[in-house]
Amino acid sequence: MLIEKESICFKKGLHYQSFKMDRIKIIGGNPLKGIIKISGSKNSALPILAATLLTDKQCTLNNVPRLTDVFTMIKLLKSFNVKIDFKKNTLLSKSDRPQSLVASYDLVRRMRASFLILGPLLARYGYAEVSMPGGCAIGQRPVDLHLDGLEKLGAKFVVKDGYVKGQVNGLLKGTKIRLKKKSVGATENLMMAASLSRGKTIIENASQEPEIEDLGKFLKKMGADVNGCGSEIIEIKGKKKLNGCNYKIMPDRIEAGTFALCVLGCSGDIILKEITPFVANDLKRTFSFLKQIKFKNTKSRSEIKVSKNSDPLNSVMVETEPYPGFPTDLQAQLIAALTISNGVSEIQENIFENRFMHVSELKRMGANLALDKTKVRVKGKKKIYGAEVMATDLRASSCLIIAGLMAQGKTIINRVYHLDRGYENIELKLKNCGALIERIK
Ligand code: EPZ
Repeated sequence: MLIEKESICFKKGLHYQSFKMDRIKIIGGNPLKGIIKISGSKNSALPILAATLLTDKQCTLNNVPRLTDVFTMIKLLKSFNVKIDFKKNTLLSKSDRPQSLVASYDLVRRMRASFLILGPLLARYGYAEVSMPGGCAIGQRPVDLHLDGLEKLGAKFVVKDGYVKGQVNGLLKGTKIRLKKKSVGATENLMMAASLSRGKTIIENASQEPEIEDLGKFLKKMGADVNGCGSEIIEIKGKKKLNGCNYKIMPDRIEAGTFALCVLGCSGDIILKEITPFVANDLKRTFSFLKQIKFKNTKSRSEIKVSKNSDPLNSVMVETEPYPGFPTDLQAQLIAALTISNGVSEIQENIFENRFMHVSELKRMGANLALDKTKVRVKGKKKIYGAEVMATDLRASSCLIIAGLMAQGKTIINRVYHLDRGYENIELKLKNCGALIERIK
């Protein structure tokens, strides 16, 4: 039955779990104990899927998470005549010449990462029309850095009727580009465009997120000449053609960090498996300021044990920063974990101007939070209480799960389609660790 429903949704480009306005019910208070398999990274899979447009040869991607955002990107690629076969977590893609080079508003509005197809389409076909992504719950999400960089590579843009129409005379031409601020998406769009161009491109002030490195490794496997990914200076020597390849998507460090923050809030110990030594070390580094969470290696290099005793949490002061700083994608989840703690914590959000939709929902659960411009002050409490709450965006949804697991009593989270954009079966993974959590209609 599930398979049938899922295949219907797949045809519609929807993930089964968002087929209905599902809700999640949690009875809080249990410590977590068990094993969780970490899925492939959403924020690595999406740019890599866009990069498959750069070749007419077959690409095989392994460890691709079954997420709504992945299905949205698949639907978008199919609209450009990319043949895709996606079974379990393996995806085969082959990009044949499209009839149309227009990315519809209906698809782009659903997911900002759709804008990542602009660079590859301009590089491969010299033309693209992509709807402006528009804002979302966490902020305006402009694309000026993408367009400025692509213009430096030789693209000409006209923005009309909410669409960006891009044109290239001949091939894109390599040059030096200095991004005026750190942007993951702009770095990725420029990397992909420059990989299929004439001459050498240097991207300065490039983002350093691990997902950028993963995209760089994928492009290299396609035959691109890309160096410096993970540093602030990326050098690319353009190629005339790129090949297909076989690639395994890196584990999702934000999913792993979300589960680590579940342990921080609920206590207990879980083993995160199918991660890499890099992701394990990155977790230790990301949470090094939280003295009460312990990371222990196990006999296997592809897993790590995360533990926290039942002592109340101490307060912390933290700011979100571009990598290698504390990730904005874990800000909401950290605030949830700190709602039960000693003292007053301060979390400063420096990346997005409105990533606080979760604050009002947490306050309905009894959390003592004060929002002062882009800083949240958390006055730790002894308890928070279950309530009916509403998910507003992807990471706010996982923050409400953490709060529900910590709260006394029952929590119902509405609009969990937000959750399904970025977490593969999160409630089943937590249920296997003793959480009283289930999906309800
Ligand atoms: C990526 O978004 C991630 N998404 C986000 O994860 C993540 O929060 C963000 O990077 C920051 O790390 C994917 O990788 C699919 P940015 P992106 O360009 O690329 C401003 C999640 O929860 N900016 O690095 O859109 C922008 O407004 C998602 O998984 C411009 O001003 O983020 C923001 O303030 C949410 N002009 C800052 O830069 C531009 O042209 C960083 O944005 C582009 C961005």
